[in-house]
Amino acid sequence: MQMSDFRAPAFYADPYPTYERLRAAGPFVQLGEKVWMTGRYEVAEAVLRERRCGKFFLELVEAEYPREQAHSSAFAAIARMIVNKNPPHHTRLRALLMKAFNATQVEEFTRLARDATDQFLAGLPPAGSADLMRKFAIPVPFSVILNLLGMRPGDSLRFADDLRALGPAFEAFGLTAQQIAAASTAADTLSYIFSGELRKRRQKPGTDLISRLLSVEIEGDRLTDEEIVANCIFLFAAGQDTTAGMLGNALIALHRHPQELARLKADESLLPRAVAECQRYDNSLQVTARMVLEDMEFDSHRFARGDTLLISVGAANRDPAKFEQPDRLIIDRTDQDSRMMAFGGGIHYCIGARLAQINLQVALSGLLRTLPGLRLGDPAKLRWRPSYIIRGVESLPGTW
Ligand code: HEM
Repeated sequence: MQMSDFRAPAFYADPYPTYERLRAAGPFVQLGEKVWMTGRYEVAEAVLRERRCGKFFLELVEAEYPREQAHSSAFAAIARMIVNKNPPHHTRLRALLMKAFNATQVEEFTRLARDATDQFLAGLPPAGSADLMRKFAIPVPFSVILNLLGMRPGDSLRFADDLRALGPAFEAFGLTAQQIAAASTAADTLSYIFSGELRKRRQKPGTDLISRLLSVEIEGDRLTDEEIVANCIFLFAAGQDTTAGMLGNALIALHRHPQELARLKADESLLPRAVAECQRYDNSLQVTARMVLEDMEFDSHRFARGDTLLISVGAANRDPAKFEQPDRLIIDRTDQDSRMMAFGGGIHYCIGARLAQINLQVALSGLLRTLPGLRLGDPAKLRWRPSYIIRGVESLPGTW
C-alpha cells in the first residue's frame, strides 16, 4: 500500500474497503521511507499507550523548512499546543488545562449545547430545504466553544477565516512558503484577539473558561499567557471540525439505516449509545500520529527514532477482531462507549470528549425532533472533504 491510497477521491468517498486491506496487510504497513500505519485495534491501542512514542512537531518542522519558516509564528503557536507536547511538559500542561476544563459541569455543557441548538434550529424555515452543515452542524459547536470561552457571538465572524488559514500548518509537511506566511498572519491575528480577551478577563473576571485558565494553579504553578492563548486557539482547532463533521456523519449514517433511525426516534434513551455507535461507525477524526522517540522494537517490527506511526482510528473501529459485524450500524451495541476509539487513547485522550458527546446528543435529538420529516440528498452525490485525517462532508442538503 502507499500513501496515495489514502489520498484518492474514492478513498474520501468510502475509506472502509481500503481499511480492510490495511488491516489484512499486517500490524504495520509501510507507506513511505519513515512512515508506517496501523489499522488494527489492539496495535493502535498499544501504540497510543507506548511511552517510547510521542510528539515531535518542532523537530519535524525544523527538518522540513528553512530556519526562518520553521520558526514562523504559525509553527511556534502550534508547538505550544498540548497535543504536541511530551511528558513532563504535557503532564504539567494537561493537569492545569484539565483543572480549568473539568470545573465546567455537565449541566453547563448541556445548557450551552441546548442554547446553540435552539438558536440555529429557530433559523431554519418550518418547511423547506437547507445545507445542514452550513446552517446547523458547523455553527452549533462553534457557538458552544465561543460561549464556553465567554466570547461574544460576533467574534466568530472575526476569526473563522483565520482558523481556516492556520489549519494546514497542523500537518507540518508539504506547505508552500505562501501557505506558511498566510498561516503565520492568521496565528498573529488569533494571538492578538485572544490576548485581548485575556486582558479583558483580568480586568473583569467571569466564570468562563478563559477566566478559569487565568486563575488555575497547581502548587504555585500557573499557565503563561502564551500557553493560554495557544491552547484556546487549539480548542477551536480540536473541537470544531471534529464535532461539526461528526454531526454530519451521524445524520448520514442514521439516514442510511432507516430502521436504526426509527428505533432512535421511538426511544431517546438510546441517544448516548447511538452517538457512540455513529462515532465507531464513521468517526470525524480518522487518523492520529505518533513519532518514535527512540529506536525500538514493537510487535516484531524495528522502528528508528524519527519514524512516524499513523494510527488509523477509523480502521481500528471497524476491526472484526474487536467488534462483531463491524460494518453494521447497531445503535444499541452494549459497552460501546468504552470500546470504540473515537477520542484516541493514552495520555493524549481527548480533553473535550464529554463536551463533544453532550453537544452531539443535544444537537442530534433537537434536529430529529424539530424536523421529523427530514430527508437527506442522494448519498452518492455527497462531497467528502479531501482529507485522510478529518472525515466529513462539505455540505449536507436536507429537505423537510
Ligand atoms: C467528535 C468530536 C471530537 C473528536 C472525534 C475528537 C478526537 C480527538 C482525538 C482522537 C484526540 C487525540 C489526539 C492524539 O492522539 O494526538 C483528541 C485530543 C484532544 N481533543 Fe478532541 N475530539 C473531539 C472534540 C473535542 C472538543 C469539543 C474539544 C474541546 C473543545 C477537544 C479538545 C481536545 C484536546 C485539547 C485534545 C488534546 C489532548 C492532549 O493532547 O492531551 N476535542 N481529540
